[in-house]
Amino acid sequence: DHAGLVKARETLGIGAGALSGAGTLALVPTMGALHEGHRSLVRLARERADQVAVSIFVNPLQFGPAEDFSRYPRTFEADLEICRAEGVGIVFAPSAEEMYPPGRQVGVSAGAMGSIVEGEFRPGHLDGVLTVVLKLFNLVRPDVAVFGQKDAQQLAMIRRMVADLNVPVTVVGAPTVREPDGLALSSRNRYLSPRDRQVALALSRALTEGSAEHAATRVRRAARAVLDAEPSLALDYLVLVDPATFTEVGDDHAGEAILAVAARVGSTRLIDNVTLTLG
Ligand code: PAJ
Repeated sequence: DHAGLVKARETLGIGAGALSGAGTLALVPTMGALHEGHRSLVRLARERADQVAVSIFVNPLQFGPAEDFSRYPRTFEADLEICRAEGVGIVFAPSAEEMYPPGRQVGVSAGAMGSIVEGEFRPGHLDGVLTVVLKLFNLVRPDVAVFGQKDAQQLAMIRRMVADLNVPVTVVGAPTVREPDGLALSSRNRYLSPRDRQVALALSRALTEGSAEHAATRVRRAARAVLDAEPSLALDYLVLVDPATFTEVGDDHAGEAILAVAARVGSTRLIDNVTLTLG
């Protein structure tokens, strides 16, 4: 049952909704500024459970001091409209004070996996993500939680947390939604000028070129050539990694691998990835 959710509702004042029945509940955690990618997660959630909850919370804990927390887009009214249109029964949108009362001490550590790849460029980011996701799970008590493959290391780390801490939630991954020209949808895309947006297309193009190859060295080389040809792109990383551990794979690797890229275009940082099969 969802006694815990009712309790969370009383404590935190989330919208009245579909809590009466004893059906299953799926949670889609978001930071708002909802787009077609988030909508696809909600639709998948509806297939996996009787009721869907969406959380909207721009989590200060996962932003570094020099990152875009204060300018992160906040479009709450439009988000509610999208949730309504998608048949979301519960929108959970706590304030930062409700989520992080003074005196906070204890959080989730992402471990060594939280310091590589994305974690190397965003120290503490994955700790902040895991901490808020576990808190959201405890407040909402979903049976199922849906996350996008767009944030592949985040998804892998949430699976790791659920396994390592015996969290009673079934994690479902959802494919990345793209614009017709290949650009992965992101709340941050709205900051791209038309010129930036053209430059940003190099990310998805690099992943496509890399995917045409079958050995690790050739995958990296093909993707790298596309990125090198775009001087306006400031590359953070291009890696080919094991999907579960995010450690680099070698030419002997057979099976699935994730080709992941992060780069800055102007002042906007973008990430993208694709899963491919090697060997
Ligand atoms: P946010 O960036 O709002 O993303 C919410 C969810 O939408 C994540 O699971 C993300 O992977 C997914 N998503 C984003 N763009 C997508 C796309 N183009 N296609 C498919 N899914 C996409 O990720 C977060 O928020 C936060 O870190 C959060 C998990 C909510 C914790 O604060």
